[in-house]
Amino acid sequence: MDKLSIEDMAVFCKRKGFVYPSSEIYGGFSGFWDFGHLGVELKNNIKAEWWKYHVAQRNDVVGMDGSIITHPKVWQASGHVENFEDVMLTCSKCKEKVRADQFIEEKLKINVEGFDTGKITEVIKKNKLKCPKCGSDFEDIKKFNLMFQTNVGPTSGSAAYLRPETAQLIFSDFKLIAENARLKLPFGIAQIGKGFRNEISPRDFLFRCREFDMMELEYFVHPDKVVECPFVKEVENYELNFLSQEIQKTGNPKKMKVKDAIKKKLISEWIAYWLATEQKWFTNLGANPDNFRVRQHLKEEKSHYAADTWDLEYNFPFGWKELQGIANRTDFDLKQHMKFSGKDMSLFDEETKKKIIPHVIAEPSLGAERAFLVFMFDAYNDDKKRGNVVLKLNPKLAPVKVAIFPLVSNKPIIVKKAKEVYNNLKIFFNVFYDASGSIGRRYARQDEVGTPLCITIDFDSIKKDDVTIRERDSTKQIRVKIKDLGHRVWEYMVGAKFEKLGKTILK
Ligand code: GAP
Repeated sequence: MDKLSIEDMAVFCKRKGFVYPSSEIYGGFSGFWDFGHLGVELKNNIKAEWWKYHVAQRNDVVGMDGSIITHPKVWQASGHVENFEDVMLTCSKCKEKVRADQFIEEKLKINVEGFDTGKITEVIKKNKLKCPKCGSDFEDIKKFNLMFQTNVGPTSGSAAYLRPETAQLIFSDFKLIAENARLKLPFGIAQIGKGFRNEISPRDFLFRCREFDMMELEYFVHPDKVVECPFVKEVENYELNFLSQEIQKTGNPKKMKVKDAIKKKLISEWIAYWLATEQKWFTNLGANPDNFRVRQHLKEEKSHYAADTWDLEYNFPFGWKELQGIANRTDFDLKQHMKFSGKDMSLFDEETKKKIIPHVIAEPSLGAERAFLVFMFDAYNDDKKRGNVVLKLNPKLAPVKVAIFPLVSNKPIIVKKAKEVYNNLKIFFNVFYDASGSIGRRYARQDEVGTPLCITIDFDSIKKDDVTIRERDSTKQIRVKIKDLGHRVWEYMVGAKFEKLGKTILK
């Protein structure tokens, strides 16, 4: 099936109550989105699964939660005040503003990310590019800083910024966290929280917003141990679609095992380990591996702080786009904060008895909204046979885990039993009670919002104390004792085969 367009996905998300344009009653507000009940459940599940995989299930990563507004010097030290800019084109007549790299990519299908203003002016002039709205010439191009400014307290001269990334809070608190958690290198510090960027042209629904949730992990290593990754064996046979700088010259990505790419010196061990670990996070949760590739930044694309950066990219309906950047930030950030704060950020190395500044060898940094889109696109199935959409979300991500239906709503004995089942299950799972319409309509409504299991309470349930469970993806049905329901649903959520949960019913 052809992928939905991003506009179709926005319509679907609104119709089903996942995501709405923010303040729609006032005409919406570009780049800002509100999540409805199902959307917030899905986004919370994505964040919870990210945290489990990156923090709770590892013994080398701890978490933190920094403030959104922090000392403005943090952003001077990080380079954001000086460098966190995009090049903007303004129409000389109607004053329409567009982000230069996106506009050029759309018009000429070339990537100019990282080009300086001189080079961009050249491209505009050579190709006679004009305002997309009124066709007039552009003014001289300008740089535009993407940080939102605010004031703190009633005094003037108190300008501060909404954080454009969560990473800097990890760096500025690095010493306290490392010492209190008694961390030994290599180790990571993770954080999930809001980031704000005053994007020149927010677009493509949740893909580029002005307010979004970031899930970031800074992974620190000893400066003398930046080459070998002790965990690389865990992913050595995992296959990725590689687009190194070299391969980009020739065109198509090459599918290869991680160990072969390392052997060919296409990629460093650490970056390969983190790229595979990140893609595995997506595919473990049901995303399609064929929709992913890993692309190395070209020299001119790299951020001011990065020695090497690779993006994990996803095949969105509007092209291959960055899902997540994995950057080797070296010791840039800790050194900058040492310089600006005058505080020591070094750790004591027990082996050499010397002070060292750790390197950030990789920075898996992912926007929760982009992950949201990936899971929605890969789950969306327009099932012609059923006549409705089936959203095949992994049960761990599904906003509602189980829907509970009384077969009929006019028999108090059945309704009472169904309510009992509902009240017992809702203690453990996000469940939904629905008594309206035919069972077929109720199944269809749950298919469309991704509910993996539906339970029907019928006349036999009264006699035998059991229920029918129907699986969303296969539409198979089994019969399970009410007393066992909690356990069976739990087993299913953590990966058990549906048929193993109870007695199959012939349809
Ligand atoms: N600390 C590193 C950092 O901030 P980034 O590539 O600028 O790197 C990290 O951002 C991730 O945040 C991106 O890979 C993307 O998933 C997400 N992201 C960035 N800008 C975004 C936006 N305007 N809307 C939604 N997500 C965004």
